[in-house]
Amino acid sequence: LKGFFNVPEPVNETVLNYGPRSVERAALKAALAEGRAKQIDIPMYIGSKEVRTGTLREIRPPHDHQHVLATYHWGDKTHVTDAIDAALAAKADWENLPWEQRAAIFLKAAELIAGPYRAKINAATMLGQSKNAYQAEIDAACEFIDFLRFNVQYMTEIYQQQPPVSGKGIWNRVEQRPLEGFVFALTPFNFTAIAGNLPASAAMMGNVVVWKPADTQIYAANVIMQIFKEAGVPDGVINLIYADGPVVGDVVFNHPDFAGIHFTGSTGVFQNIWGTIAGNIHKYKTYPRIVGETGGKDFVLAHPSANPDVVAVALLRGAFEYQGQKCSAASRAYIPASLWPAVKEHVTREMATFKMGPTEDFENFINAVISEVSFDKLAKYIDEANADESVELIAGGGHDKTKGWFIEPTVLKVEDPYYVTMCTELFGPVLTVYVYEDKDWDEILTIVDKTSIYALTGAIISQDRYAIAEATYRLRNAAGNFYVNDKPTGAVVGQQPFGGARGSGTNDKAGSMINLLRWVSPRTIKETF
Ligand code: NAD
Ligand code: ALA
Repeated sequence: LKGFFNVPEPVNETVLNYGPRSVERAALKAALAEGRAKQIDIPMYIGSKEVRTGTLREIRPPHDHQHVLATYHWGDKTHVTDAIDAALAAKADWENLPWEQRAAIFLKAAELIAGPYRAKINAATMLGQSKNAYQAEIDAACEFIDFLRFNVQYMTEIYQQQPPVSGKGIWNRVEQRPLEGFVFALTPFNFTAIAGNLPASAAMMGNVVVWKPADTQIYAANVIMQIFKEAGVPDGVINLIYADGPVVGDVVFNHPDFAGIHFTGSTGVFQNIWGTIAGNIHKYKTYPRIVGETGGKDFVLAHPSANPDVVAVALLRGAFEYQGQKCSAASRAYIPASLWPAVKEHVTREMATFKMGPTEDFENFINAVISEVSFDKLAKYIDEANADESVELIAGGGHDKTKGWFIEPTVLKVEDPYYVTMCTELFGPVLTVYVYEDKDWDEILTIVDKTSIYALTGAIISQDRYAIAEATYRLRNAAGNFYVNDKPTGAVVGQQPFGGARGSGTNDKAGSMINLLRWVSPRTIKETF
């Protein structure tokens, strides 16, 4: 197309395998050792300044809570105001920069992660969030790179979309303006890629951003900020602050220039934020964009025709990778009675081989959960289930916080499909199974839909095409990402746009054109000659 500005065609980043004698493992080990040996001091990044308040907090690996990895500087309302001021000061230059220049910055960030920063960002994710090497690689390296590369592609399509029709003596055009004000990015602990993507996608579209990560994710957030800076994100465009969520929220949601929130986190927090924004709506210059990806209670539904080994693998990988701390994790399963003995045998046999321990030895499939709060909550649910006569403990059930926040992968079998662990997001390595009579297939579809208060991911495992078609239709509102004969986790940017509705969010599909369109406000211009 004449005049069409293209960017390098995005391809998904290849997942490296970190085999025992690979150069990748050697580099990662060195980065891990350096992370362990150096206790770093992490500032906030506001405008051109690294801000050190002197009010220090510590970061410790969830799998080794006696070791201090880093300290960081805790902020208050003043720092939130400073970050907003710095963002607004940077706005005019940033939004007037040609979009190709912004694209180049984020493509460079992707290259930095793919190359010189790969080991560092993976090591930070392994130490700070207790991910094993594979989980860190698919998140902090591959998914983050994919978000950046694919979003740059979608961005070029948005800026170069088909113009409206013009007539004789009339020229119509549509201009994609950044939002009027600043965007607030509020990110969760569990994905480094999400932490990077939420500020980056809004900034890419010409917005300035105030970014507050979860406290348990600051170690990797600091590396992300270094990457953004080295890639050329100008001072003030993305400001990284650490302070109490409600304190930050109080300043941000009362500010007249608040123009949008890019949130990923729990449903309860998002609902409160939405209520606050609604209550303050008369204070803003413009209606803020509200984009939120929230909680999940994701299911695996097996049909009597399913291959029991396929069911077992979907459960094992879906429920226990990254200790079940993916929003997409399989946490409830519906298995027909005819398949249960085979599924149970496969699942328990594999679980007996799981190794649990720190991330750094490359052997452990299971690592620690993120925090003591999370550990205590999971331990309580497991202990209560254990004490309940209606619940059968199929595997696991143990927990130990002596050295790290270790919860043993656990499978519970319940008699009541509405049992608390079938309906509540626990966010840990706990899978609850309900075994239904094969003849009750129709009823089970109703139950799955009814209990999908969240609607993020779900999977149907079946070899019967009629059953697949029926489940796909009947559960059409029960999951924003629906999988057929696969686990419900591991969406790949550019392949399975990710997000859910109902209690799981606004479904603006992370890493897609739908999402990027939320960060612009189009203006139509008609010119008459
Ligand atoms: P969280 O809701 O506790 O925290 C998210 C962010 O909000 C953090 O930065 C936190 O500090 C901040 N926050 C917390 N309370 C606040 C308040 N009152 N005011 C302002 N900010 C506040 O979530 P988390 O524990 O970090 O992450 C896990 C949750 O995220 C799970 O529910 C998971 O399902 C969800 N998640 C969803 C997706 C998705 O794509 N749908 C992806 C990842 C995680
Ligand atoms: N993209 C992540 C997954 O699908 C959240 O598991």
